[in-house]
Formats: sequence, C-alpha cells, structure tokens
Amino acid sequence: MTIMVFDSGLGGLSILREVRAVLPSSDIVYLADDAAFPYGGWDQEKLIVRILDVISTAIGKVKPDLVILACNTASTLALDELRSRFDIPFVGTVPAIKPAAEQTSSCLISVLATQGTVKRQYTRNLIAEFADKVHVRLVGSESLAKIAEAHLTGGQVDLDLVHRQILPCFVELDGARTDIIVLACTHYPFLINQFRKVAPWPVDWLDPAEPIARQAKRLLTKENPDETSLASANQIDIAQFTSGSPDKASIRLVSGFGLQVN
Ligand code: DGL
Repeated sequence: MTIMVFDSGLGGLSILREVRAVLPSSDIVYLADDAAFPYGGWDQEKLIVRILDVISTAIGKVKPDLVILACNTASTLALDELRSRFDIPFVGTVPAIKPAAEQTSSCLISVLATQGTVKRQYTRNLIAEFADKVHVRLVGSESLAKIAEAHLTGGQVDLDLVHRQILPCFVELDGARTDIIVLACTHYPFLINQFRKVAPWPVDWLDPAEPIARQAKRLLTKENPDETSLASANQIDIAQFTSGSPDKASIRLVSGFGLQVN
C-alpha cells in the first residue's frame, strides 16, 4: 500500500513520523509543495487552484491508496473538493478544536495556525459546531512556519520572535487562563520546546498527528481487512519537492526521516 503525505513544506514530517509508527510496512511518498511555501499568506482562490493542480498531478503519477493532507492550510481549503474528485480516501489535518473543547478545564482554548487557516470558513464552522460553550481565541502567525523550517534545517530560532507570535494565545478572563493551545499547523510541533520555553504559563499543546495516523490506518484496514496487504511493494520511501531543487539541508533532513529524494 502506498500512502501519499502532502504539505507545503517540511511540516508534514510531524504527521509522517506518526504514520510510520502505526503503519510501519506501508510505502510513503512525501510530497512538499516547497515551490509555493509558505501557504499561509496566499490568496484563497489562487491557493485552491494550486493545491488541486499539484495533488491531482501527483495522484496521477504515484497512484496512492490513500492521501494524507498533512497541512491545515490546505485541508481547510481543498479537502472537500479533493474528496469529491477522487475515489481514494483522504485524511485531512484540520484544527483539533473538538478535542480541545472537550478537554479544557478553564473553558479557554486557543488555536495557533497560519493566517490562512484562521480566516477559513471551515475553521469557523468547527468552532460553531464543537466549541460553542468555550471561548476560542484564533491566532494566525505569519512567521512561525518559516521559523520552523529554518530550525529544521539548522537555523537559529529567535525566541523573542516566537514569544511575540504565541503571546496572543494566552488569555486571562475572569480569573481563568487558557489551558489548551491547538497546534493547527503541522510545522508547529517542531517548535514545541521553544514554545514551552517562552510560554507565560504551562498549557497542553494539542498535536493531532497521532489521531491522524490512526485514522489513516482505520481507513486502509477498512478497505483491506487483511493487514498483510498493507505491506509495501518497494521498501523505499520517497520525498518529492515541487521546486525540483531542495537545498542540501532539506535533503539531509528528509533522509533522516528515511526518505529518498526523487
Ligand atoms: N504546514 C502547514 C499547515 O499545517 C502550512 C504552513 C505554510 O505553508 O504556511 O498549515
């Protein structure tokens, strides 16, 4: 079985590592639309055309059995359209607002995402449907995805800048404080140590990677009840970059995740 994992850049690797843990013998093709990174500030109409184009082309070539959109910015925009166009299962990555609303004790949660994701109707609908009894603060950062990429490829992290980016997530209201922050961009789990360092008080940082990987396994085993059929054909996991020319640091990084650059 081949699973395609898609992101604008390297953030989807936070999902890939969980997919490996639950589906160790499936083939993985990791597709990074690095030529268009970052997605966060893109115009919505242009971005949906771009995403549909890149993913449709890749599906034609790779012929995956399942696609994971390991990108909130893409999923909140294109997931429904992709599901209607293709006959294969798609697992999206959308802000984990429902579990956060169920788990909060203070009834104050925040969603840390790209500027694109916080603007989406999809995100607003999740809040209306699952979090109408809690206070939700949406925080769109224009720089954290880029900071995460730089960090992943060996760059220094400016902690003051990280502090400024996450500060609006911390709300105090009538003696209560934010207790859960949803990591609604797949790049952000790679900055979790920095977030903890500069956070004004301890919170739970909700990373949806594991439930997403388990959902992928559920869907694959539903269609292929014999688990041995999930095993890979090639034994090689591949990374593809739409730029066609990832830098050396990115190539080293994805190699560390067991991916061969195509
Ligand atoms: N990793 C992406 C997400 O989950 C987007 C980062 C970007 O391209 O701005 O939203």
